[in-house]
Amino acid sequence: MAWKGVILAGGLGTRLFPVTRAVSKQLLPVYDKPMIFYPLTTLMLAGISDILVISTPQDQSQFRRLLGDGSQWGLRLSFVAQPDPGGIAQALLIAGDFIARQNVALVLGDNFFFGHGLPDLLARATARADGATIFAYQVRDPSRYGVVTIDGDGRPTAIVEKPAAPQSGWAVTGLYFYDREVLAHAAQLRPSPRGELEITDLNLRYLGAGCLHVERMGRGFAWLDTGTFDSLIDASTFVQTLEHRQGTKIGCPEEIAYRKGLISRSTLLELARQMGGSGYGAYLADLANGKE
Ligand code: DAU
Repeated sequence: MAWKGVILAGGLGTRLFPVTRAVSKQLLPVYDKPMIFYPLTTLMLAGISDILVISTPQDQSQFRRLLGDGSQWGLRLSFVAQPDPGGIAQALLIAGDFIARQNVALVLGDNFFFGHGLPDLLARATARADGATIFAYQVRDPSRYGVVTIDGDGRPTAIVEKPAAPQSGWAVTGLYFYDREVLAHAAQLRPSPRGELEITDLNLRYLGAGCLHVERMGRGFAWLDTGTFDSLIDASTFVQTLEHRQGTKIGCPEEIAYRKGLISRSTLLELARQMGGSGYGAYLADLANGKE
C-alpha cells in the first residue's frame, strides 16, 4: 500500500512574534537543522516518499528553496499554499487533489518525535489499510492538547480538544494516519466555534465509525512541540545533548535516505560537498565513508 504524506507548515506563528514576522516558524532552527526536517524525517521513517508541504502563500518560496523537489533525497516533494489558517483538517481538503483516493499520513510541521522503536510504531499505522491511527503521549499539562481517553483494551473512547478538566493524561500528538475515506469525512466537517475545521472532529468521525486506532507512545519516546520560545530551546537542547553524546544526528534526511537505499553513496558524497565546510557536511561525508 502506497502512502502519501502531508506536512502542515502554515499558520501565523503569532506566539513567536516578532521572530516569525518575516520567517516561517517551521523554518526556524531546532539546534542544527530547520524545524521541518524533523516531521519530514518522521514521514521518511514511516516509508513515505511522496509528500506535500503546505505553508502560507508568502513562505512557499522559502520552503521550495530549502527542500527542492526532494529528488536529492529520493523523495517527491510538492508544495501548496493555505491562504488562511482555517484549521488542521482544512489542510486535508487543500491537499485533496494530491491525496486523491490514497491513504495519507498528516504531520504537523512543529511536532518532533524521537525514540527507539519509532519505525516499528509507524509501521503498525501504515500496515492498517482501513480506519485511522493517532498517537497518544502522556503529558503533565494535557489541557493544552487534544486529549484521548483509552479503555482497558487499548481502544479510544473519547477525544476532547483542549479540555478544561482532562479525563486522561494522554495528549493526541500531531501525527495522523488516515484511510482512503479521509476526504469524504473531512468534507462533512463544519467550522468549530473558533472558526476552524478541527482535526479532533475528524478523528471523532473515525471514532464514531468504530475505526479509530490509538497507539500509545510510551515514556521511552520524546514528543515535543516547538511552538513557543521555551519549547524551541527545550527541543534544541534535547537534540544537542543526544547529538553531542552519540555523534549521530537526529532528523537528518540525507542519512535516512541513504540508510533506506533511496540515494546512492555518490549522491550522499555530493550532498556532503554541497554543505560546504559545515559540520553537517562532514557528518554526511563520514557516513558515506562508513564511519559509524
Ligand atoms: O500538537 C498537537 C496538537 O495540535 C493536538 O493535540 C491538538 O489536538 C491539535 O488541535 C493541535 O493543537 P494546537 O493548538 O497545537 O494547534 P495549532 O492551531 O497551534 O496548530 C498546530 C500547527 O499547525 C501550527 O504549527 C500551525 C499549523 N497550522 C494550524 C492551523 C490551525 C496550519 O498550518 N494551518 C492551520 O490552519
